[in-house]
Amino acid sequence: MKKITTLILTGLLAIPSFAKVPVYLDPTADIEARVEDALSRMTLEEKVKVLHAQSKFSAAGVPRLGIPELWTTDGPHGIRPEVMWDEWDQARWTNDSCIAFPALTCLAATWDPSLAYTYGKALGEEARYRKKDILLGPGVNIMRTPLNGRNFEYMGEDPYLASIMVVPYIQGLQSNGVAACVKHFALNNHEVNRHTTNVSLSDRALHEIYLPAFKAAVQKGGAWSLMGAYNLIGDQHLCHNDRMLMKILKGDWGFDGAVVSDWGGTHDTDEAIENGLDLEFGSWTDGLSNGASNAYDYYYLANPYLERLKSGQASEEVLNDKVRRVLRLAFRTTMDRNRPFGSFCSPEHSTAAREVGRKGIVLLKNDRKLLPLDPKSNIKVAVIGENAIKMMTVGGGSSSLKALYEISPLDGLREAFGPQAVVAYARGYVGDPTGEYNGVVSGQDLTETRSQAELTAEAVALARNSDVVIFVGGLNKASGQDCEDSDRASLGLPYGQDELIEALAAANKNIVVVNISGNPVAMPWLGKVRSVVQGWYLGSEAGHSLADVLTGKCNPSGKLPCTFYATLDQVGAHATGSYPGVKRADSDIVDCNYDEDIFVGYRWIDSHKQAPLFPFGHGLSYTTYKYGKPKASASAMTDAGTITITVPVKNIGSVAGSETVQLYISDIKSSLPRPEKELKGFEQIQLQPGAEGEVTFTISKEALEFYNPGVESMVAEPGKFKALIGASSGDIRQIVEFELRDGTLALCE
Ligand code: BGC
Repeated sequence: MKKITTLILTGLLAIPSFAKVPVYLDPTADIEARVEDALSRMTLEEKVKVLHAQSKFSAAGVPRLGIPELWTTDGPHGIRPEVMWDEWDQARWTNDSCIAFPALTCLAATWDPSLAYTYGKALGEEARYRKKDILLGPGVNIMRTPLNGRNFEYMGEDPYLASIMVVPYIQGLQSNGVAACVKHFALNNHEVNRHTTNVSLSDRALHEIYLPAFKAAVQKGGAWSLMGAYNLIGDQHLCHNDRMLMKILKGDWGFDGAVVSDWGGTHDTDEAIENGLDLEFGSWTDGLSNGASNAYDYYYLANPYLERLKSGQASEEVLNDKVRRVLRLAFRTTMDRNRPFGSFCSPEHSTAAREVGRKGIVLLKNDRKLLPLDPKSNIKVAVIGENAIKMMTVGGGSSSLKALYEISPLDGLREAFGPQAVVAYARGYVGDPTGEYNGVVSGQDLTETRSQAELTAEAVALARNSDVVIFVGGLNKASGQDCEDSDRASLGLPYGQDELIEALAAANKNIVVVNISGNPVAMPWLGKVRSVVQGWYLGSEAGHSLADVLTGKCNPSGKLPCTFYATLDQVGAHATGSYPGVKRADSDIVDCNYDEDIFVGYRWIDSHKQAPLFPFGHGLSYTTYKYGKPKASASAMTDAGTITITVPVKNIGSVAGSETVQLYISDIKSSLPRPEKELKGFEQIQLQPGAEGEVTFTISKEALEFYNPGVESMVAEPGKFKALIGASSGDIRQIVEFELRDGTLALCE
């Protein structure tokens, strides 16, 4: 013991008393001071080294200074399984199966920012446990067309909703010391030709529709990194785009984090240097595809950059800005010794996944209250459709997961109905029997030898002998069916599901259709079925969340974050013929002009007076809410003042529930064309049966603004406005008129 003490003392004495911890290692020092100190100690080679990948998903850090590697991971819905150093192939770990959270469309459909925080926090904990520092998500590209294969990874069609929901997701995630990497910046609104599509759009569409969620992510969410998109704008790839990265993101918005390239999204060293790229990943230059160990030196921001620096062609000032951003990222993540340790597959994460799922499921139609089904009623239930049994967490592209478990809708229903109940199953159709992505296999054998006629006959016979039919179909994340790198070919359901649903409807009047998808689908059979439920991709707890809603354990409260169109003609991008663009004769570039301009989603529906299947914001409940007469008042507390509107809401049904009351603003007269109305607020209220409560909206001048290209900024014009208060964009219940007069908000006399 004495010997040890002596040794320790000798060791301590060996450190001269005046030796100080370098500033960059001092956790109490200001982060900018740490960045500057670390920067001042780095060699040119080290500076270049931190700007590009060293493996599929990691960057090197600065080993000499003890600044660790930075590890990234997909994706928005769970932590991707470990892949090999240089390859997409699986590392075949046995301890990397995660909790799969519902896809982001489902999260958006909860309209519940506090759940977005819970989601981000849980996901960050999983990332931390797996020693990941940057989570490649969330995605906030606006749903411009329902054919986009990646809409399920995004937060719907409305910039306001996406802006509100993305912020707490980022805050929850980053509370773990794990950086968000918001993607894909920007205008990556469809997947076909994603590397060659050159988008042209008006400044109004850019600023009013496509940028607000990214801006909120940066300025309100405080995102520490952001991913450039694959496509181009102004003939320049988004991963090194002067206007988007230098002027708007880093200039106007003051983004101080790092711009990460999408994997293989970098194409040019000079542009990457000058136009704002900070961290290059996934380039497939010089032998990388063969796994050559030095391939990373050939990245655009590796040796080619170093050569330019050494020959004086590139300035160290620009380099230092990039390095500062990467160091800042390190000090916020790997160098934060106080960050929590994380947890993996905890019961809390399962609970969070189930909760997001059940709150995001949307009850679209419920004629004569077919739902909820009472598990104690001894009814004979037929569950029909491939999606009732298919694992949905494998597939879809980079967001594909290896889930610890996945409760299928059929299993969830059987569990909810109990062992005494008859819950029979028939497949009905064959969709995608494969279940494999990058070497992760679902383990299900979905091969089928029977013909479609035989499958239909079996399903119809079962439907005929049952009291109620729950058809679980939709899309499935196979290529072309909600999957990265491909779009859907049409709005309709694939695999003959429409015909099957018609046949089932002829056999049994009590049909519930559960549509599993991240996108709207056409429903030509809508008038023939009693209930329709939008199930999204629900992750590990899918079957539990779904059964909770179908059996009334949870009263549905989800609302659509996107319009469900009757036909593609109701979509601006398609009605104008602008999707997917036109290939240039002399190059691979495909020009896509966003001809529908700001009229995306319900904005197009409203201005063309169309009747969608279900409007944006729609979602039913097992109870009914009555909206009372609003009380409005003006306050001059701030510069332009505010209008406060309080709306009484009463639950006039017999079950407790939660309603999302929506506020849309309509500009009665404006100098430029504007959408008929735009979402500018929403509030959720929980009410017991018979109870009445209030929701309050405060409208400030900001809610009246549109982008005026003449002055290159958002402006609010004087004049009259309407505050429309509704249960959806198609169900406006109350209206309050007010005006902006002499620069101040006032109620109309
Ligand atoms: C996707 C990104 C993803 C990256 C890494 C790309 O193909 O577009 O969203 O994060 O791969 O897997």
